[in-house]
Amino acid sequence: MVVHTPPLGWNSWNTFGEEINETVIKESADMLISTGLAALGYRYVVLDDCWSLKERDANGRLVADPAKFPHGMKAVADYIHGRGLKFGMYSCAGMHTCAGYPGSFDHEWIDAQTLAEWEVDFLKYDYCFHPQTVPGAVLYKRMALALANCGRDILFSACSWGADATKTWIKETGASMWRTTGDINDSWRSIKELSLVAGDATRYGSINCFPDMDMLVVGMNGRGNVGFAGCSTEEYRTHFSLWALLGSPLMIGCDIRSMDHETRSILMNRDVLDINQDPAYHQAFDASPSALKEHNEMPIYVRLLSSGDLAIGFFNLTDEPSSRWNMYLLLDGIGLPESTGKTLHLRELWTGDEKIVTNGIVTEQIPPHGCRLYRAQIIDR
Ligand code: GLA
Repeated sequence: MVVHTPPLGWNSWNTFGEEINETVIKESADMLISTGLAALGYRYVVLDDCWSLKERDANGRLVADPAKFPHGMKAVADYIHGRGLKFGMYSCAGMHTCAGYPGSFDHEWIDAQTLAEWEVDFLKYDYCFHPQTVPGAVLYKRMALALANCGRDILFSACSWGADATKTWIKETGASMWRTTGDINDSWRSIKELSLVAGDATRYGSINCFPDMDMLVVGMNGRGNVGFAGCSTEEYRTHFSLWALLGSPLMIGCDIRSMDHETRSILMNRDVLDINQDPAYHQAFDASPSALKEHNEMPIYVRLLSSGDLAIGFFNLTDEPSSRWNMYLLLDGIGLPESTGKTLHLRELWTGDEKIVTNGIVTEQIPPHGCRLYRAQIIDR
C-alpha cells in the first residue's frame, strides 16, 4: 500500500495503558465521529499493547483477552468499520511486547494472517525483547514481508524508538511510518526533548515513510497512563504545531470522551492540519539564525506547501522569552530576495492575526515554550 499523507487517529496507550476494553475502544470510535474529529481526517482507532492473553492458543495464534474483548477482535473491527473508521492493532518484533504479552518474533506470518482475518488496517510494531542476534532492519523486514503477503492492506507502523539508527534503514523495510524517539509523557520537558531529536530525523521522512514523533499528549492535562506534570494550553499548542509542521503522524492520546474546549480547538485547527496533510510533503528546514546549533532551541521551521504558500513556525523551546534579535527570519535566506519584487502576507494560525512583511525580515518575540505558526502567501511588494 502507498500512504500519501501522515496518518491521523487516536491510540489507546497514553491514557489507558493496560486498562483497555471493548467499551473504551467503541466509545472512543463514536467520539471521533460525534466530535467531528473523523471528518477532519482522524480515522485510525489504534488499540495498543495489553489486548491479548499472555499465552498463544494450541495453534500458535494470538488470542484476544476475553475479559477485555468478550466479542473478539473481528467484532471490534466490524464496529469501527461500520462507522467508516480504520482499525489499528499492536504487536512487537521481540518475543514479548513491552508490557510482557506475546510478541511476534518467529510468528510473523501467522500473526499477519490473524490480523488480516480480523480485518485490521494498521499495525504498530514495537521493539522490546527482540533477539540480539537479528538486526532490527531484518526484524522489521520479516513483518513487513508477512504483511505485504497477508491479503489485506495493513499500514505498517514501526516503533523502534529511533534505536539502532532506524532512520537509515527504515525505508528498506516497507514501514509507512517510524518512531523517531523513545516514549512521550505529558510534560513540557518530554515534548521539548522529543522535538529536538525529531527535528534532525524528519529529513529522512518522505511520502509513505513518515517520521512518527509519538502519540500526542494534547488534552491529557496530567491524567492517564503517561500523564505526568501535564502542560499548559500554550505548551500543547506548541507541541501540536511542531508535530504538524514537521510532518509527523498525529495520533491523539488523550481521553477523547472528555475533551475540553481548549483541547478541541487545538486538535481541530483545520489550518494547522492542512499543513500537516499537505500533499506535496516537502521537507521542513530550519531558517533561524541559530540553525547550525546541534539541538537548536529556537528553530524557525519553514515548509513549502503544494499551493506555493509557505508554512513558517517560530518556536521558543527555552525557558526565557525570546528577543526580536534572536528570533528573526530573513526572506532572502528562504529564497525570496528583494530583487523578486515579492514579499509575504502572513496569517497566524492560532490567533488569526495578519501582517505584511515590508522590509525583508520577520521578527518575533515569543514567550518561553510558545510559538507562532504562519501560513504565508507570496504577494507583490
Ligand atoms: C513502548 C512504545 C509505546 C507503547 C508501549 C506499550 O514503550 O514505545 O508507544 O506502545 O511500548 O507497552
